[in-house]
Amino acid sequence: MAPLLEVRNLTVAFDTPDGTVHAVNDVSYSLEEGETLGIVGESGSGKSVHALSMVGLIATPPGRIVRGEVLFNGRDLLALSQRELFEVRGKEIGFVFQDPMTSLNPVLTIERQIAEPLRRHFGMSASQARTRVVELLELVGIPDAARRARQYPHEFSGGMRQRVMIAIGISCNPKLLIADEATTALDVTVQAQILDLVRDLKKKIGTTVIWITHDMGVVAGLADTVQVMYGGRIMERGPVRAVFHDPRNAYTWGLLKSLPHGGRRGVTRLYQIPGNPPDLTKEPVGDPFAPRNPFATERCRTETPPLGEVEGSVAGHKAAAWYDLRAALAATQVQP
Ligand SMILES: Nc1ncnc2c1ncn2[C@@H]1O[C@H](COP(=O)(O)OP(=O)(O)OP(=O)(O)O)[C@@H](O)[C@H]1O
Ligand SMILES: [Mg+2]
Repeated sequence: MAPLLEVRNLTVAFDTPDGTVHAVNDVSYSLEEGETLGIVGESGSGKSVHALSMVGLIATPPGRIVRGEVLFNGRDLLALSQRELFEVRGKEIGFVFQDPMTSLNPVLTIERQIAEPLRRHFGMSASQARTRVVELLELVGIPDAARRARQYPHEFSGGMRQRVMIAIGISCNPKLLIADEATTALDVTVQAQILDLVRDLKKKIGTTVIWITHDMGVVAGLADTVQVMYGGRIMERGPVRAVFHDPRNAYTWGLLKSLPHGGRRGVTRLYQIPGNPPDLTKEPVGDPFAPRNPFATERCRTETPPLGEVEGSVAGHKAAAWYDLRAALAATQVQP
C-alpha cells in the first residue's frame, strides 16, 4: 500500500534582513496510514516550519519553499492552489496547535468555532452541526457538552480548551492529525488525560498522527515511530524502542542522555549537550551537529551524511552519521 504521506526533499527558507534562514533542509520521510509519528528536537530545529509548510501555512514572504514534494494520498500538496489547500486543511488534515487561548476566538462560542469547519466543508445545517458539536465535545471528554457548547473560551480551563482544539482538529474525521506542542503548556495530569484521549481516538477513528513535542516521554507513550530533527534535518528515525534503546546518531544520544531518569542509582546529574544551536543563516554544509559532536570525524564537517538504514537494528531504523556511534562510545567507555 502506498504511504498516506510522503515528504520528499522538503527544503524551506526564510528571507530575513539578517540573511536567509535555512529552516528545513532536505527532509524526506513517509508515513503509513494509522501510524503515529513523534517528532522531537530542540527549539528552532524546524519541526513546526516543516509541518506548516506542508499545508501552505507559512507566510510567503518571508518564507519560501525552496524545493520538495509532499505527496498526500498521492497528490502533491505543494503544487495545489491556496483554494485547493483550503479544502484539504481541516477536512483531510486536522491541526492542533499549542496555546488554544490565541487559537480560539474569544468572542465566539465554542459551538460556533467547532461548527465552522463542519459547515464549510460538509455544508451542514446549523442543527446538524450542533448535534455533531455535542458529539465531538463528548468524544474529547467534556462533560455536560450541550451546555458547555454555548459557552465562550474564557469559561473553559486550559485543559478543556485544549480538548476543544482537539475537537476542532478531528471534527471532519481527518485522515491525518498534526499536533504541534499540543500538551506542552498543560500540567502533567491534564497532559496524561489528553494523551489517553488521542490513543482512544486512534482506536475509534484510526487517524494517522504527527505529534510534535519536546517531551521524549510523550513520544515513548504515544508514537510508533520517532523522528529526531536538528538544524532543519532528520538526524535519526525509526521505531521508538529501537531509537531509544540503540541510538546511532550523536544528537539523539545526547538528547536521551540529557533526560532525567531515577533508577536504582538515584537521580544522577543531568547531561547537557555542550555548545550552541546551529546558525541557520549559514549555508548548511556537512552534518549540522558536527561542531557539538565529540565523535565527529573530518568528513562530518564537510559532507552531509545521508539518512541511511542502520546496520544491526530493526527495519526502518535510519540514522544520518558518518561515524559509528556504538564503536565510538565503546572506545571512550562512555555509558550508552
Ligand atoms: N517567519 C519567520 N521568519 C524568519 N525565520 C523563521 C520564521 N519562522 C520560523 N523561522 C525560523 O525557522 C527555524 C525553525 O523554526 P521552527 O519554528 O520550525 O522550530 P521548532 O523546531 O518548531 O522550534 P520550537 O521547538 O521552539 O517550536 C528557526 O530558526 C526559526 O527562527
Ligand atoms: Mg515549533
